[in-house]
Amino acid sequence: MRRTAIVTGSANGIGKAIATRLVRDGYSVCINDIPNKAADIEAAVTELNTAFPSDGRPKAIAVPADVTSGSSVEAMIHETVEKLGPLTLMVANAGIAQTKPLFSATEEDVDKVFSVNVKGVFNCYTRAAQQMIAQGDPETAAGVRVYKILGAASIGGFRASAPLGMYCASKFAVRGLTQAFAQECAPHKITVNAYAPGMINTSMLDGIDESLTDMHGQKKGDMKRNYSEQVVALGRAGTPEDVAGVVGGYLASPDSDYTTGQTSVVDGGVFFT
Ligand SMILES: NC(=O)c1ccc[n+]([C@@H]2O[C@H](COP(=O)([O-])OP(=O)(O)OC[C@H]3O[C@@H](n4cnc5c(N)ncnc54)[C@H](O)[C@@H]3O)[C@@H](O)[C@H]2O)c1
Repeated sequence: MRRTAIVTGSANGIGKAIATRLVRDGYSVCINDIPNKAADIEAAVTELNTAFPSDGRPKAIAVPADVTSGSSVEAMIHETVEKLGPLTLMVANAGIAQTKPLFSATEEDVDKVFSVNVKGVFNCYTRAAQQMIAQGDPETAAGVRVYKILGAASIGGFRASAPLGMYCASKFAVRGLTQAFAQECAPHKITVNAYAPGMINTSMLDGIDESLTDMHGQKKGDMKRNYSEQVVALGRAGTPEDVAGVVGGYLASPDSDYTTGQTSVVDGGVFFT
């Protein structure tokens, strides 16, 4: 097996934990994020290449790109394939949050969230699939039974909650794209799945916590604490590594080769599917 992955939005947070898990499990990865996070991207690449010795090709490379641009996503894929070999996994992880009641949301707010969380995922899914199809049979190209495409949904993509309405709608859309694309891709030996984190400790969660604090006059950290104690069965917020275990350890591994069109919930016991 010679496995190569792109993880979008992986300069930090859940994406970085997924990329780290993939490298640990034998993948070489492209670390991607928006161009103004170039320093964080480089730091993540250096960290991975220092911790994991090269096996004849780099363990990690840096490719800044904005996933809202289809041509930038194509260029990122081509650079990755040129430097690391055939693409076997795309993780469309990049996403942004928005905490705003729908009553006060503008058309610009809709475009902003949907351009990253939906169009960005669409760009990554479709461009990655085109590349994989062009590479031919996965066993011949890279020694794997199937190519894999994964996208970041959320438990908000199963049940929406105010004031995260637009964000939740975008995550419902990720599940829709995943289900339909899994059907289109199956004849090409490509599986398509999504993961749905619950409350995971990252800068995104800090931002949501702060916005809700401002809206409801609570103290910083109250939302996280109350949710952990009252809603999450396991009684704590998740870590990026909790998500990486399911994404890198299972969805990116040969153990999930017969799974497609699914969204795996990683929430410590909030939704019971
Ligand atoms: N943290 C949570 O509680 C949680 C819960 C459910 C779902 N998620 C989803 O998991 C994914 C990762 O979230 P996180 O918590 O690590 O967030 P994060 O904000 O820490 O990381 C997201 C990364 O995506 C990058 N990004 C944003 N727009 C981009 C673009 N246009 N092109 C390329 N990169 C871009 C950001 O710069 C950032 O580094 C997101 O899709 C998020 O919606 C997170």
